[in-house]
Amino acid sequence: MRKKIKELLKSSQVNDQVVIEGWVRTRRDSKGGFSFIEMNDGSCMANIQVIADNTLSNYESEIKKLFPGAAIKVSGELKASQGKKQRVELLAKEVLLYGACDPENYVIGKQRVNFELLRDIPHLRPRTNTFGAVFRVRNRLAAAIHRFFQDREFLYIHTPIITGSDCEGAGELFQVTVQDIEKISAGKAKCDYNQDFFKKKSFLTVSGQLELESFACSLGDVYTFGPTFRAENSHTSRHLAEFWMVEPEMAFADLEQDMALAETFLKSICSDVLENCAEDMDFFNLRVQKGLIEKLQNIVDMPFGHMTYTDAITELQNSGQKFDFTPEWGSDLQSEHERFLTESVVKGPLIVTDYPAGIKAFYMKMNPNEKTVRAMDVLVPQIGEIIGGSQREENPEILETRMRAAGLEPEGLSWYMDLRRYGSVPHAGFGLGFERMLQFLTGMGNIRDVIPFPRTPGQLGI
Ligand code: 4AD
Ligand code: MG
Repeated sequence: MRKKIKELLKSSQVNDQVVIEGWVRTRRDSKGGFSFIEMNDGSCMANIQVIADNTLSNYESEIKKLFPGAAIKVSGELKASQGKKQRVELLAKEVLLYGACDPENYVIGKQRVNFELLRDIPHLRPRTNTFGAVFRVRNRLAAAIHRFFQDREFLYIHTPIITGSDCEGAGELFQVTVQDIEKISAGKAKCDYNQDFFKKKSFLTVSGQLELESFACSLGDVYTFGPTFRAENSHTSRHLAEFWMVEPEMAFADLEQDMALAETFLKSICSDVLENCAEDMDFFNLRVQKGLIEKLQNIVDMPFGHMTYTDAITELQNSGQKFDFTPEWGSDLQSEHERFLTESVVKGPLIVTDYPAGIKAFYMKMNPNEKTVRAMDVLVPQIGEIIGGSQREENPEILETRMRAAGLEPEGLSWYMDLRRYGSVPHAGFGLGFERMLQFLTGMGNIRDVIPFPRTPGQLGI
C-alpha cells in the first residue's frame, strides 16, 4: 500500500520496504549508471530522494525520460542517505510510470515562475512548494477554527448561500435568477420576479450573520463558516468576490465579551497553525516574509491594543503622517489609516471600537450618545481589518429606526424583527475573513494566492 512521504520521513526506518506514489520534481543522471529522482506527493514540503539503477528493466525506455511533473509509483527499500539533506533515501526495485510530463510546455519547476504567472494556471500551481504550503496551511487553519469553536461548545450552523436579504446593506450583491437576461435585454421578455425561481428577488449571501442570529437567539453560542460573495469592484490585494468567512454569534454577550472572544480566537488559531504546520511555516518565514514567525508569536503572547474610533481619528490627525485620504471624523478608516495605526502607533494588533453609526451596518447597537455604535474591527499589521464585528441592536424600536435610516423596509426583514419581539437578548458576534487570516499567517502579499480558485472583478479563470 502507498505510504505518504510525510509519514515515511517521520517514522520509517532503514531497510523498510515501502511503496510511494507522487510526482517527479527533478531527475539527475549520475555517471555511475543510476539516476536520482526527487519525488513529492503533496503530503509535506520535503521530497524523498529515489535512486533508480540502470539495471531496472525500464531504465532506458522510461526512467531516463522522466521530467518534472511526471507521475510515478516507486517500490523499494529505504537506505541511510549518503547526502546531508535527508536521513533516508529510497532504493527503487520498481518504477512504474503513471503519466509522463511534456518538458516543452510544463512550466512548473522548469524556471522560477512568479506568483502572477501561476494565477493563470491555478489547476497546476499547488504542485509548487509555495502553493503546496499555502494549501496545507489553509487546511490546518480550517480545522483549527472548527476545533476552537467545538472545544467551546459553539454549534456549527449551515447558513444559506442563497438569500433574500442584504446583510451588510451595502448593495454589493450578486443576483441569482433563472430569467433569460438575453431575452429581457433584447426586449423579447419582461423582467418579472414573480415568475422567477423563488418568486422574489434573490442573491448570493454577503454574510451568514442575520440567519445565524436566529440560531444564537435559540441555541446560545453558534458559528458559521462558509463562502460569501461580494460584487464590490475592488481591485486590491485584500479583496475577493468570493471568499470564506467565519462568523461566531453569542447570545447573552456584549461587545466586551465579543472582543475577548476575538482575541482568544486569533491567538488560538495562530498557535495551532504554528504548532501543526511547522515545516511550511519555516518556509514562509524564510522565503516569503522575514520575521513572520516572530510576528505571529507576538500575536499569541501580547495583549491586543484597544482604541475608540474617535481616538483613532485624533491619533491619525496628530500623527504628522501624509495620507491619500485625510482622516476625518465620520468617514470610514481607509486601509492606509488602519495600517498606520496597527504598524506604527500600537505596533501590534489593535481593536478599534465605537464607529460612527452612519458608516456601519443597521444591525449594530446604538450607543447612548446616539452618534456611535457598538462596533469593533480588529486590525493587524500588513493587512489592516481582519475581523469586523459588533454587539447587535436588541431594541425593536431603535432597530426599526436604524433600518429606515439605512433605506431598508423593516417589513422586508420581519423575521429578523421577530428576534427582538419574542424574548430579545443582548447578543454579539463577528466575522473573520478566512483568506485575510491566511495572508496574515503565510505572509503572502496577494489574497488571490491563498484561495484555490480566485474570483475577482473581470477574472473568473477556472
Ligand atoms: O466587516 P464585514 O463586512 O462584516 C460582516 O460581514 C459581518 N456580518 C460579520 C459579523 O459580524 N458576523 O466582513 C468581515 C470580514 C472583514 O473583516 C474582512 O476580513 C473580510 O470579512 N472581508 C473580505 N475578505 C476578502 N474579500 C472581501 N471582499 C472581503 N470583505 C470582507
Ligand atoms: Mg468590515
